[in-house]
Amino acid sequence: MPLVSMAPILKAARAGGYAVGAFNIVDYNSMLAVVQAAEELRSPVIVQTSVKTVVHWGHEALMGWVRETAGGSPVPVAVHLDHCKDVDFCLSCVEAGWTSVMIDASAHPFEENLAMTRRVVAAAAPAGVSVEAELGEIGGVEDDKAVADADASLADPDKAVEFCRDMGLAAFAPAIGTAHGVYKGEPKIAFDRLEEIANRTGLPIALHGGTGLSDEVFRRCISLGCAKINISTQLKYAFIDGFCDYHAEHAKYDPLAVIGAQFERVKREMGEKMKLFGSAGRASDVEVPSS
Ligand code: 13P
Repeated sequence: MPLVSMAPILKAARAGGYAVGAFNIVDYNSMLAVVQAAEELRSPVIVQTSVKTVVHWGHEALMGWVRETAGGSPVPVAVHLDHCKDVDFCLSCVEAGWTSVMIDASAHPFEENLAMTRRVVAAAAPAGVSVEAELGEIGGVEDDKAVADADASLADPDKAVEFCRDMGLAAFAPAIGTAHGVYKGEPKIAFDRLEEIANRTGLPIALHGGTGLSDEVFRRCISLGCAKINISTQLKYAFIDGFCDYHAEHAKYDPLAVIGAQFERVKREMGEKMKLFGSAGRASDVEVPSS
């Protein structure tokens, strides 16, 4: 099937009480591993790219790989731009073929965040491209974005309702106490706030900072309305450890064998997450709009 936007994937997930993984791929090998894991498990999937990854490889190279690995996939695949602070960069990805983008203007005052998000939605919607936006500030480091613990702030439910009203978002990312990167201690997740925001906005909630959360926390967040779960740091670890462990064990300078081991590690670990999030076997839930 053709690439799809996140909207039908997340609508089905929220209605079905499961979540779909959004995996921050870093190159062709990791993208192929994520797509193949989804296909083997009959799972919808979100191939997620950070701004840094897009800048590193270029829009055309990345979209070429996406079309090759997922363009005719039997499962629904969305290609999504993660945490983009710049409206014009979001629009460049809409133009290049991304099916979904995240405008992250959460560091700006509320009204500015609202206005920047509106600009992206206005340009993306006619192209059938879905939009995610953030309110409050999620802590930690995600590629080029760093938010010190002291600056992280939870989303206010009344503001969340005001922000999402008539905005036409496919996913909403309120800061609820999770953080990007490796957790230093036990994360304090504001489950009550998550529940209230999910219920009052009615939107699929995007859970950022997925690496290091327990199975129990994932299940609880999904039951309260999280329909998209972001995994970046764990993929980076699998990518590098898969490569290094194989080389340490075999000590052969055989690049394709090392790359193969890396591929298998990423595929296995991301596939395990798809099973845990409940998206395995749900590919046919997604109603793909006819073009
Ligand atoms: P982790 O790096 O903690 O997996 O977070 C990923 C994320 O939320 C990307 O936006």
